[in-house]
Amino acid sequence: MKKIGVLTSGGDSPGMNAAVRAVVRTACYLGMEVVGVRYGYKGLLENDYIELNMRNVCDIIHRGGTKIYSARCVGFREMENVRKGVQNAKEHGIEGLVVIGGDGSFRGARDLSNEGLPTIAMPGTIDNDIVCTDYTIGFDTCLNTIQELVDRLRDTIESHSRCSVVEVMGARAGYLTLNAGIAVGATAILIPEIPYDIEKDVIGKILRTRATGKHHFIIMMAEGIRFRDGLTVDQLAKRIQDETGIETRATVLGHMQRGGSPSVRDRVKASQMGNKAVHLLYEGSSNRVVVSKGEEIIDYDINEALEMKKTIDMDLYNCAMEISL
Ligand code: F6P
Repeated sequence: MKKIGVLTSGGDSPGMNAAVRAVVRTACYLGMEVVGVRYGYKGLLENDYIELNMRNVCDIIHRGGTKIYSARCVGFREMENVRKGVQNAKEHGIEGLVVIGGDGSFRGARDLSNEGLPTIAMPGTIDNDIVCTDYTIGFDTCLNTIQELVDRLRDTIESHSRCSVVEVMGARAGYLTLNAGIAVGATAILIPEIPYDIEKDVIGKILRTRATGKHHFIIMMAEGIRFRDGLTVDQLAKRIQDETGIETRATVLGHMQRGGSPSVRDRVKASQMGNKAVHLLYEGSSNRVVVSKGEEIIDYDINEALEMKKTIDMDLYNCAMEISL
């Protein structure tokens, strides 16, 4: 293999640049050229390329977002477009591809592999909702950002003896909300994976903890609750205020959570995964996904990976419930 491509797809995440850098540097080390495909699969369909080399990926390891841009390309679900992508890549001399993104991006990687372009996927999303891996690039930085933002909220709600209802990203998954909820000392945590009863799990809990002397409260709610149940932080805040008499404010953290300089963990994991992905292509593998399992970086068949089921860590959830008294 003489030339490979790399693209970032779906929502950007801190550490994607470190991953791209590792892909490029490893390819250079192994004597291969690298092309960056800009804007993910969309760029593959539009032949939007940038030459990457060991020097022009300098000064990006510490930057959030993705320097080769990203997009959500719904059209890439159609096989006709996948075949066009393979043809474009081949015409540009690209013999293998590394895809960095979420599980939607993995499906594109699988289809490209099946159509004859050897492709390796890597998990890059703040949500950490990819079944086959313990860790996705961006999760740690995002958690630290949420923690910092909610710590700031705590200063002001503590000063006014208020309650704060905070919406955290995660359209289908509560991993960010659960972990951040523990880190910020939330009184209640609502995530789509666990059934909840507002009366018992939110209002009742606030009243019980207030009776023991607590006077400020943080309620963390995953975005997925709004998407699935239609419950907004404003509605929940109003209900809490109406039923408890505690002044309550609602905050949607939004896209602030997704930006920022990647943490050490994200830079190191991204570098390891990028390095492994290029070695896999170099050795002639295709249709694999690079994952983090415990302390190891390993790989799975993408089809196998897409069939795995991720469940919420109930020990972690129970821990959160027991210590949020
Ligand atoms: O990338 C994952 C994610 O940040 C989700 O947590 C969130 O629901 C979604 O992307 C937001 O997507 P967009 O940036 O397209 O609004």
